[in-house]
Amino acid sequence: MAFFESILVTGGAGFIGSNFVRRVFKRHRRCRITILDALTYAGNLENLASLLDDERVTFVKGSITDPQVVRTATQGCEAVFNFAAETHVDRSIAEAGTFIQTDVFGTYTLLRVASEVGVKRFVQISTDEVYGSSHGEDFTEATPLTPGNPYSASKSGGDLMCQAFFNTFETPVVITRSSNNFGPYQHVEKFIPLFITNAIEGKDLPLYGDGLHKRDWIYVEDNCSALELIGMRGVTGDVYNIGAGKSQTNLSVAEKILEILRPARSRIVFIEDRKGHDRAYEMDSSKLHKLGWKTEFAFDEALEKTVAWYKDNEEWWRRVKSGAFRDYYEQHYGDRLRKGKAHDV
Ligand code: NAD
Ligand code: TYD
Repeated sequence: MAFFESILVTGGAGFIGSNFVRRVFKRHRRCRITILDALTYAGNLENLASLLDDERVTFVKGSITDPQVVRTATQGCEAVFNFAAETHVDRSIAEAGTFIQTDVFGTYTLLRVASEVGVKRFVQISTDEVYGSSHGEDFTEATPLTPGNPYSASKSGGDLMCQAFFNTFETPVVITRSSNNFGPYQHVEKFIPLFITNAIEGKDLPLYGDGLHKRDWIYVEDNCSALELIGMRGVTGDVYNIGAGKSQTNLSVAEKILEILRPARSRIVFIEDRKGHDRAYEMDSSKLHKLGWKTEFAFDEALEKTVAWYKDNEEWWRRVKSGAFRDYYEQHYGDRLRKGKAHDV
């Protein structure tokens, strides 16, 4: 089955969206890509460098909450891939209003316009976090939604709206729920890039709680190949989990980062835990495997690639880490790090 001839990618200037755009651009030479992105603190046109000059790519700056902007951007697009979201759990704990605006109302606005325009496919990029914390059993697509923080509650709201539009208006929706991604161009506020760049800078690595929370890390390229496949072949109205199938503790990931960057001067410091911190995300992706997908990248090898990318792209992340991020870092981590306890190795 051929890929679409024209797609709208919302949030395409962010981490996963920009990796997805790059993949589609390379692999589907006839596909025209419109990117709609509000360029919040998390959006960065440098993530799309070189692509923006190509006539197959159109960039529109605007919010998915604005129906007029969305209508213009969606015209002529066969499919919508909705990556646009507020995405950082810690920020949602500090202030949830923008999460509700973008992740719920923005998704609703996109759905409404996509239904009017009559797109062939609406891919909602969601997260395993909507299932809440796992307790020894892997999440399947039938696991009830029990989100544990304002970010995952907002994403759940977006997912439910997608299901409601499918049920009510037959909007051709498919929902994807992936586990934690890592790889090039991920914002430094997130765990793996923060720890890699702090270690390069010789700063402490702030690990929440006892560090034994588990995540099923997936390399971004593997998530993007799944999204491409589900976009083409997923059953309309269905949900697909996307996970690498092996979860590990944050402490173990932090130790691996230090090992790769040896001899790093940084210490792992246990700090006050995140409020409402989900203990574990563990995923069953067998439904997606039946569509013919598998991961290409093993975690350790992909982590080495990711560390190498951050070492080679210091200018990119030093710019992201300067300015407003410095204030955020001091406000969020300053006291916690001062009161933290270094990990004995
Ligand atoms: P990101 O924070 O790096 O990027 C989000 C992008 O959305 C940014 O470019 C930002 O400018 C844009 N955006 C924010 N609000 C907008 C609005 N109102 N209108 C238009 N654009 C807006 O996020 P990411 O990590 O690339 O995540 C992308 C999607 O994947 C999100 O929907 C997220 O919930 C989902 N997801 C992420 C992960 C992960 O590990 N990163 C895992 C599972 C699911
Ligand atoms: P994060 O990258 O924020 O993703 P999510 O909360 O969506 O899973 O965090 C991944 C894990 O790392 C999570 O268990 C929280 C933990 N973490 C830390 O221990 N320290 C940090 O500074 C950050 C940002 C996260």
